[in-house]
Amino acid sequence: MDIPSSPGKFKMDKRTRWHKSLPKLAFWSILFFGVIYFLFFRTPSSFSSDTSRRSLRTYNYGGAAWEKKVRSSAKVTSKNGVSVLVTGAAGFVGSHVSIALKRRGDGVVGIDNFNDYYDPMLKLGRQALLERTGVFIVEGDINDPTLLKKLFEVVPFTHVMHLAAQAGVRYAMENPGSYVHSNIAGFVNLLEVCKSAEPQPAIVWASSSSVYGLNSKVPFSEKDRTDQPASLYAATKKAGEEIAHTYNHIYGLSLTGLRFFTVYGPWGRPDMAYFFFTKDILRGKSITIFEGPNHGTVARDFTYIDDIVRGCLGALDTAEKSTGSGGKKRGTAQLRVFNLGNTSPVPVTDLVSILERLLKVKAKRNVMKMPRNGDVQFTHANISYAKKEFGYKPTTDLQTGLKKFVRWYVNYYSAGKKADE
Ligand SMILES: NC(=O)c1ccc[n+]([C@@H]2O[C@H](COP(=O)([O-])OP(=O)(O)OC[C@H]3O[C@@H](n4cnc5c(N)ncnc54)[C@H](O)[C@@H]3O)[C@@H](O)[C@H]2O)c1
Repeated sequence: MDIPSSPGKFKMDKRTRWHKSLPKLAFWSILFFGVIYFLFFRTPSSFSSDTSRRSLRTYNYGGAAWEKKVRSSAKVTSKNGVSVLVTGAAGFVGSHVSIALKRRGDGVVGIDNFNDYYDPMLKLGRQALLERTGVFIVEGDINDPTLLKKLFEVVPFTHVMHLAAQAGVRYAMENPGSYVHSNIAGFVNLLEVCKSAEPQPAIVWASSSSVYGLNSKVPFSEKDRTDQPASLYAATKKAGEEIAHTYNHIYGLSLTGLRFFTVYGPWGRPDMAYFFFTKDILRGKSITIFEGPNHGTVARDFTYIDDIVRGCLGALDTAEKSTGSGGKKRGTAQLRVFNLGNTSPVPVTDLVSILERLLKVKAKRNVMKMPRNGDVQFTHANISYAKKEFGYKPTTDLQTGLKKFVRWYVNYYSAGKKADE
């Protein structure tokens, strides 16, 4: 071939140029289609998987059959029944509350993204229970405005029971984004849709006792300071309370926040101490029990799920209507915050002793100083406000409640289900 010594003067013929640029073309095409795929074909859930945890399936909603299921689930069957959208319905508290509402004749539709923060089999098990009670859980994310608007188009919900959240105090250090995604962005998205809904629903939502943070005045009263959160989880719940204030103030949304205190019971959460202590004691694994400074007792105001459910229903039944319409406030609306606890704190060491008796197995206790990773030493609820407003009165002590939990746990896991490793 006749190649000149000076490369600058070399001119390829057209065919040679085409061949040489093929790899480049392939590279840019792959990049181009990759970007298109990433932008358009990934679902909102997988898009934000780093922050929201992975969902089990791609969301799939809409269509006549889907709407029929939603409508049928939302059907009110009692005279004074209401129609409620329950977010986090496949969760621990959400599933119990949904069943209680449905059983008394309210219309209930659930929404949950079935994320894998803990064993999704539990969520599917709860979903099956709800299905048997006539409650349909829509699989989707509360950050999806199209889905939420669609639900309000199909059903003019009078109430929203908002229980979807990224729960857990310690996990916030591992995946902080998931707390922002569900507890802040998700809550704002839900409120945006509620504010424009006709009629605007009244909203009851789960805050947390963790907002009391480093507050040392006991028992915790709703009037106490909540500006010293000890975890990002607590900070997002506190932010939720401030966000609730804003939407109440600007748009006339009726909002009731419930500060739950360590809820436990059947179908509970595997990331909570009473649950994983049970699992580890039964497996002969040692359990870590924290103590405060100077061997101080760590105690919790453990509250049984049925008492919490009664509190949720009481708050819902006394919630006044929102006052806005056309996305605008038309008058002052109700804004409340309640403690829902048991008002009888129990040392964690006593919790372990009760479990040992119920399981008939001695625990291998490993006592450690409490690390500074979000936990607080003590919680104790003053519940007089909830008592005054809707007669809230917890009736289950820890011994009785744990007995019911252990019975469920043993049945559930001996029926072939595996407790998560
Ligand atoms: N259990 C307790 O002791 C306790 C204490 C204080 C506050 N709370 C609050 O009560 C509520 C219910 O708690 P729980 O114990 O039932 O927790 P949970 O994790 O069992 O239930 C929450 C449910 O919300 C769903 N979810 C999370 N993010 C979502 C999103 N972006 N879109 C749709 N669904 C989403 C999850 O899949 C889960 O099923 C939460 O707001 C929690 O922060 C619970």
